[in-house]
Amino acid sequence: MKKRKTRCVGILTAGGDCPGLNAAIRGVTKAALGCGMKVIGIQDGFRGLVENRFLPLEDGDVSGILTSGGTLLGTSRDKPHRMLLGGRRMDMTKVALANADRLQLDCLVCLGGNGTQKNALHLHQAGGLNVMTLPKTIDNDVAETDITFGFDTAMQIATDAIDRLHTTATSHHRVIVCEIMGHSAGWLTLGAGIAGGADVILIPEIPYDIRAVTEHLVARRHHGKRFSIIACAEGCRSLDEVRRDKQKRKAVADPSVLVGESTASRVARLIQQKTGFEARVTSLGHVQRGGIPSATDRLLCTRLGTKAGELLRDGQYNVMVAVRGDDCQPVPLEKVAGITRIVPPQHPWIRTARQVGTCLGDHLPSCG
Ligand code: F6P
Repeated sequence: MKKRKTRCVGILTAGGDCPGLNAAIRGVTKAALGCGMKVIGIQDGFRGLVENRFLPLEDGDVSGILTSGGTLLGTSRDKPHRMLLGGRRMDMTKVALANADRLQLDCLVCLGGNGTQKNALHLHQAGGLNVMTLPKTIDNDVAETDITFGFDTAMQIATDAIDRLHTTATSHHRVIVCEIMGHSAGWLTLGAGIAGGADVILIPEIPYDIRAVTEHLVARRHHGKRFSIIACAEGCRSLDEVRRDKQKRKAVADPSVLVGESTASRVARLIQQKTGFEARVTSLGHVQRGGIPSATDRLLCTRLGTKAGELLRDGQYNVMVAVRGDDCQPVPLEKVAGITRIVPPQHPWIRTARQVGTCLGDHLPSCG
């Protein structure tokens, strides 16, 4: 690997925010400053780069932010090559590259999820800008890393919510369907569902059969359990919906789907219709992305950030800093961008859930 000195780095946070972003900004900045680099914070993700909005970061700017949620730099979901400006989508790649050049950035460090990995690679491929990424998202769906930062905190928030729902569901003898974020991956729902002891866990990777769900709920009642908690991923779909999508028919043609109805509301409605059990919905929404990062996330962000500092010092660019066991390692960005890491069917967490008798919305029996 060719080594060269990095003098000036830019850092931005892009995509949805999550707990731990400030801890990661702090880790990168302190490590980079410690190696004699200049650090420039770009505001509001790639939009700030296009609009030339930035602030120099000194040690004092990243002091006392380890525990704070959100991102001091601000974030946005803007893509440099498809940016909404004055009501029109514009390709602003050249402007972004010219501004990076003007700031004399030797490398742009981008903290983000799958969209950010793609946008960073795009800037590198379009104009040779050196980039580095850190894997951030509560969805935990970035390829080539064991885990993303933000996930642990969000999983704890969702688990706490399931714990609280247990007591009220028990008192009222109700079914409560708890909708959990995660986009098209089931990591957050599966992790929180197992940790919170949900009775049914529905994830996008396993299309559910509503009959399997209702049979499980009825069996629980027969065993004297008059409440049930369903951890329901926002992206989960029924077998019928998947089948209809494959046939390329519109979802509105599916009689079990009401337009504008959330996933969890649909599941709750169908359960109530088919069993007569009283069902309620709780959608956790952006609560899962707020507040103080967990100790695990703070540690992870500091490890990732300082590893980024080391790689910058060595002039190793165009990589994502990935978590591999106890280590943080660079992975070529081409191997990451454009790939969504979903829960594999044979993943140990799936086996674990079945082994404690959790219904995963299919007809597979729990195994011993
Ligand atoms: O990617 C993180 C995430 O929270 C997803 O789980 C969710 O689908 C999405 O972002 C929500 O996006 P927004 O904050 O733009 O509503």
